[in-house]
Amino acid sequence: MILSGVARLAGVMGWPVEHSRSPRLHGFWLERHGIDGVYLPLAVRPENLETALASLSALGFAGCNLTIPHKEAALRLIDETTPFAAEIGAVNTVIVRKDGSLLGDNSDAFGFIENLRSASPNFDPTAGPTVVLGAGGAARAVCAALKKAGAVEIRLLNRTLVRSECLSETFGALVRPLPWETRAGALDSAALLVNTTSLGMDGQPPLDLDLSLLPPDAVVNDLVYSPLITDLLAAAAARGNITVDGLGMLLHQGRPGFEAWFGVAPEVTDELRVFVTGDLAP
Ligand SMILES: NC(=O)c1ccc[n+]([C@@H]2O[C@H](COP(=O)([O-])OP(=O)(O)OC[C@H]3O[C@@H](n4cnc5c(N)ncnc54)[C@H](OP(=O)(O)O)[C@@H]3O)[C@@H](O)[C@H]2O)c1
Repeated sequence: MILSGVARLAGVMGWPVEHSRSPRLHGFWLERHGIDGVYLPLAVRPENLETALASLSALGFAGCNLTIPHKEAALRLIDETTPFAAEIGAVNTVIVRKDGSLLGDNSDAFGFIENLRSASPNFDPTAGPTVVLGAGGAARAVCAALKKAGAVEIRLLNRTLVRSECLSETFGALVRPLPWETRAGALDSAALLVNTTSLGMDGQPPLDLDLSLLPPDAVVNDLVYSPLITDLLAAAAARGNITVDGLGMLLHQGRPGFEAWFGVAPEVTDELRVFVTGDLAP
């Protein structure tokens, strides 16, 4: 890679940051489009986030992504937040504007819905209830995306019920918090099932879920992408449901930032999927 003196600069701030796949993702797009620019892993300790964000403009950065543990803390450190990021309660994309001020957005919801639409083009979010498992940051992005897409009902099941109730405060009557123990019954008549918990991820406990009541035409999306084909997706595919893995969400969420910083709208292709996850099983 050879950069000129006017190369565009962006990166991802996280702590730790070495597990982030974003440098690989954006690096692929930069090379593919022959862009004079770079996307760096930026290891920023939580206590340095304010200084790091305030330095973006002075260092000539076009912006950055934020990952764990900075997404929520950044909300109070940037100049303006999009209504979408405010609703989700987290910022993952920062854009340095011409006057040096920082605009914070959240592209996880965009990534979720774009992934769903590209993997299951006929899916209609208004067709029936959605069951969302989990009530963390990812669930907030999923609820925001589904609300924008016109979803009619979200049955939200989380181990800690009070966290689900927080989401129903944000998203109103659209979100119905239900006890975690009732998750198998909640699948009855659902059009979409989304796992936003970390259950089923490598190194985490399995997701214990009986799919018997899930209609055969329901779409099943697991946000976990390590492994790529989780036990949930394998069980859903075996009974004929359309399945959508979590990798696409990760890739699609990078698109808005890349376009804002480097001026080119990138694509998510099969080649990109293989490049970013060559080391993921299967
Ligand atoms: N594909 C993508 O682009 C993408 C994007 C974002 C996140 N993700 C994935 O989504 C998952 C969640 O991320 P997050 O940021 O929302 O994390 P988070 O805020 O820490 O939330 C974790 C969720 O998992 C639940 N959970 C954890 N252990 C559990 C257990 N033993 N039994 C039942 N529930 C359990 C938690 O329930 P409690 O509230 O009861 O603790 C909570 O709802 C992760 O696997 C992450 O990798 C994927």
